[in-house]
Amino acid sequence: MSSAHLQIEQDGSVATLTLNRPDKLNALSAGLIAELTDALRTLAARAPRVIVMTGAGKAFCAGADIEEMRGMSTIEAKRYSEQGHALGVLIEELPFPVIAAVNGFALGGGCELALACDFIYASDVAKFGQPEVNLGVIPGFGGTQRLARRVGIGMARELIYSGEIIAADKALAIGLANAVIAKDELLPRVRALATTIAGKAPLAIAQAKRAMLRGEGRDLTAANELEAQAFAMLFGTSDQKEGMKAFVEKRKPEYTGR
Ligand code: COA
Repeated sequence: MSSAHLQIEQDGSVATLTLNRPDKLNALSAGLIAELTDALRTLAARAPRVIVMTGAGKAFCAGADIEEMRGMSTIEAKRYSEQGHALGVLIEELPFPVIAAVNGFALGGGCELALACDFIYASDVAKFGQPEVNLGVIPGFGGTQRLARRVGIGMARELIYSGEIIAADKALAIGLANAVIAKDELLPRVRALATTIAGKAPLAIAQAKRAMLRGEGRDLTAANELEAQAFAMLFGTSDQKEGMKAFVEKRKPEYTGR
């Protein structure tokens, strides 16, 4: 299952989604955003346990398509921004992790796309930034919100106001990326991690993802209540019975996602 600018492969329960518009550094045209949205919905129905998102060529994604965006009216720009927001929310709401394997440039909307993923592994040649102020605009696909939540408000302000492009090691140092991996090793390493995660109880992963997402920004009492409900709900699953039984029987659990 692939489309004009997306390549989709599934290996067992790990799917890899590759943005494949390398001649334009995988810039997010409205068409590519729609393709991504459709592909994620279709993939979600197949219930993979993890999606790895990456880019073909030298970029993960160089951002919103500037050529397409430049003539937009305010109304069109609002819709475009909302389309980007909907894509980010779709990724966040998927009941399984999406890992960004950032192979090269992740700028503007590309950085925002990576930020909507659960976490980021970067290649050693990756570059990150929110350079929108160089174009007279601001991040419009969630960057003013998610970057601050990931790296802290001070660092997010600095990056967004300066438009600075940072290298992978700085992304790692500020907590934007979880790891920096040699370029050729990036995908194998991320897929290996995805396979490890795919072997865990999927309903537990889904509830952990949801609890962290829903709890972010709430006061601790309300967030803990969400956690307690999610924790308790898992005691109604076969996977909880299997996981704890397997532990007691000193064997590897077999999870079914039920
Ligand atoms: N939108 C549309 N097209 C883009 C693009 C974008 N965000 N980023 C790159 N491209 C296109 C270029 O126009 C060029 O197309 P062309 O060959 O038809 O002229 C092609 O992708 C290759 O890019 P190029 O600039 O030649 O590559 P480079 O290696 O010299 O520079 C970047 C790489 C990433 C530094 C540079 O492309 C860039 O600054 N891109 C814009 C990043 C940005 O501001 N993103 C935020 C958008 S809000």
